[in-house]
Amino acid sequence: MAKNVGILAVDIYFPPTFVKQEALEAHDGVSKGKYTIGLGQDCLGFCTELEDVVSMSLNVVTSLLDKYKVDPKQIGRLEVGSETVIDKSKSIKTFLMQIFEKYGNTDIEGVDSTNACYGGTAALCNCVNWVESSSWDGRYGLVVCTDSAVYAEGPARPTGGAAAIALLIGPDAPITFESKIRGSHMAHAYDFYKPNLASEYPVVDGKLSQTCYLMALDLCYKHLSEKYEKLEGKKFSVSDVDYFVFHSPYNKLVQKSFARLLFNDFLRNASYIDEAAKEKLAAFSNLTSDESYQSRDLEKASQQVAKPFYDAKVQPTTLIPKLVGNMYTASLYAAFASLLHNKHSELSGKRVILFSYGSGLTSTMFSLQLHEGQHPFSLSNIATVMNVSGKLKSRHEFPPEKFVETMKLMEHRYGAKDFLTSKDTSLLAPGTHFLTEVDSMYRRFYAKKGEENTACDNGAVANGH
Ligand SMILES: CC(C)(COP(=O)(O)OP(=O)(O)OC[C@H]1O[C@@H](n2cnc3c(N)ncnc32)[C@H](O)[C@@H]1OP(=O)(O)O)[C@@H](O)C(=O)NCCC(=O)NCCS
Repeated sequence: MAKNVGILAVDIYFPPTFVKQEALEAHDGVSKGKYTIGLGQDCLGFCTELEDVVSMSLNVVTSLLDKYKVDPKQIGRLEVGSETVIDKSKSIKTFLMQIFEKYGNTDIEGVDSTNACYGGTAALCNCVNWVESSSWDGRYGLVVCTDSAVYAEGPARPTGGAAAIALLIGPDAPITFESKIRGSHMAHAYDFYKPNLASEYPVVDGKLSQTCYLMALDLCYKHLSEKYEKLEGKKFSVSDVDYFVFHSPYNKLVQKSFARLLFNDFLRNASYIDEAAKEKLAAFSNLTSDESYQSRDLEKASQQVAKPFYDAKVQPTTLIPKLVGNMYTASLYAAFASLLHNKHSELSGKRVILFSYGSGLTSTMFSLQLHEGQHPFSLSNIATVMNVSGKLKSRHEFPPEKFVETMKLMEHRYGAKDFLTSKDTSLLAPGTHFLTEVDSMYRRFYAKKGEENTACDNGAVANGH
């Protein structure tokens, strides 16, 4: 049986195009600070007509295989998490098979998982379970989370974003799962959903989604704590964890979420909550849980108490989500990538808890143990390969007008056929995959910048195109 199964390698791709939230505030005519302080977001990354969930995932998978020198024949399972629908039947995974077919490897299990922002976590659990199972054939699992988060004009639009992230799964990993320390909460809710199949935009009840998220957080934390306590025979609290990583639709919700964990600890009489904090929170100890989700005073008081802990245990995870936005399935793992980027040299021996939430709703909180590992599968090499600073620096800022124009074009293109893209790849890095065409049979074609004339990557030969 495989031992110490977990994440061996990570890579991330986000589009080179973004808009600043401050500029968006002025453009949208909302009060200054609403998106930057109110939502806690700095920038919003987005796909232009050249990019989509397939091109982003082609980029991240080819980059991961290349940079960690993984032979494509060594992948035995490939799972994609996404909620961006470009086809109601054909999986994104099958587009990615073009990478592996070229090497004669078609013996790869797995398809796509979908439930809002949770699909990536479902894919990750499947891959880890496969490596730990009697079906494992000794090869790696590969998880891809890819999404373009776009909203109709209105208050939710500034919470968009886009990215793809790839996680290589196998034994003896630097990032291992504490499989017994895990809690889930799944229920029926209409907080955010996509019933209109002709539109890429969700129907979203923003306030309800916030409450559903916090309720799910409480319940996952409760379930996880109970399992830990049964296993270890001692009380569990925030003080047992070095870092917390949250699914990040916008940073303000992450701040509220962490404060909520401290309030939970206060109610459970955790020993690290000092007298001053107890005094601040005492007034809220008799609220019903429904009341507690609505209390602005509790939110304020618990965020105050949580602030020093937030700065130490959460702030290092917020870099990419604040600068790229909500990446749906990739959001949680982009937050984790931020931690690896910021703290890789200090993470050996640390416990990190992740909270995954997908509207509708599905949620899981799980625990990881980190160790430096062996090159190329080491924490320091993961940070080098991801090159987060380099990728952020080489982005291009769009003015809000151009962002809105792009959203209009993408609305028009969603579900459309028979069009060519502009092929102006000047903003893309060399080697980036991009969409060239959707033909009269809705087939999508991609090319690689710098290799446009060897367009085989896109299944062109198989399609007789
Ligand atoms: C998050 C969302 C509900 C915000 O909508 P909104 O109508 O702008 O909400 P508000 O008017 O309450 O403003 C949001 C916050 O900004 C604050 N704010 C408003 N104007 C401000 C200003 N000028 N300066 C500072 N803060 C400001 C508000 O006080 C509020 O803070 P709070 O959350 O601490 O109460 C909306 O963006 C949304 O629906 N997003 C998508 C939701 C989502 O991603 N759901 C999935 C969850 S997994």
